[in-house]
Amino acid sequence: RHIRSCGIQTPERRSPVAFAFDIDGVLLRGKEVLPQARRALRLLDGENKLGMKIPHIFITNGGGVAEDIRCRKLTSQLGVEIKPTQLIQAHTVLKSVASQYADSPVLVLGGKGDDLRLVAEEYGFRRVTTPIDIHAWNPSIWPFYELSPYERERSRPFDPTIPLRAAFVFHDPRNWSLDIQILCDILQSRGYVGNADYHNNTAGREPVELVFCNPDLLWGSDFPVARIGQGGFREAFQGVYKALTGSRYPYVQYGKPSEATFRFAERILLDLFEDQGTSDANRQIGPSIYMIGDNPESDIAGANGANWSSILVKTGVYREGSGPPSHRPTLMAEDVEEAITMALRRES
Ligand code: G3P
Ligand code: MG
Repeated sequence: RHIRSCGIQTPERRSPVAFAFDIDGVLLRGKEVLPQARRALRLLDGENKLGMKIPHIFITNGGGVAEDIRCRKLTSQLGVEIKPTQLIQAHTVLKSVASQYADSPVLVLGGKGDDLRLVAEEYGFRRVTTPIDIHAWNPSIWPFYELSPYERERSRPFDPTIPLRAAFVFHDPRNWSLDIQILCDILQSRGYVGNADYHNNTAGREPVELVFCNPDLLWGSDFPVARIGQGGFREAFQGVYKALTGSRYPYVQYGKPSEATFRFAERILLDLFEDQGTSDANRQIGPSIYMIGDNPESDIAGANGANWSSILVKTGVYREGSGPPSHRPTLMAEDVEEAITMALRRES
């Protein structure tokens, strides 16, 4: 079969497959570890019918902290070592663009306090502002909120005379109202906050670039019903912006199912195989990668678009009885353990 002809070469034998795991709704539900998750990941460490280690990565539309911090937590939750080279979060792809903004003032939204400022600076952004900095500079920008002592101590000075060049929504915003207000301010004035003249006269200034890192309208948490994700924030912002200006604001969308995120993931997988001395430059690895996910709109749509194989599990957003999935997976499984078993049976 095509897959065998382009399987993954390991020093002793080929691994005919590689896996890409979604996290929320597949391995975790909120803080809960799904019961099959630990057994499933041990299958990839050699306890399988192929009798070999099977390359695998994790692609999540989640995030909020640096990859190494998230990996330490995932390693303790899942009982197997997970390295930063195996983890792609919603904002990880921004590592590949950060150098273009190294000296430009940018707004970073989402997550807690200034956790994501630290992540952005680790990626190479050097002039990062957060909505908390702006609110600390002038609380009347949004009078219905008071910074917590934690936020105030983490805020940094904000200079309203310097225009912001781009706004990146790294992770799910915690204060939609404050963030939507600030986005509407800077996008209408091409980068400035609090200057009425610039609201009315944007001549000669470049529009602010707007980037979202996670399109999920819904995601699978430990609540019995799927929760609204960063895609909901995007639609709330666009609804207010359109009411104010008559049109939606143009934006770049990363995260699953975007092609950029899956191409970035494929490069990570190839690097992983390089490390194992198994790279083969002209190998088309697509169909030999199995994306295991719970959300047809992100995991299955993205894998199908990238010409990977896809397995939809019923432990997260998609639930048995909710009708055919909006994107047809290669296979369907009850849970992550069954998904791996089905893929290995199919490839052996
Ligand atoms: O915020 C996380 C959520 O949108 C989805 O995460 O791991 O299911 O892609 P995941
Ligand atoms: Mg998920």
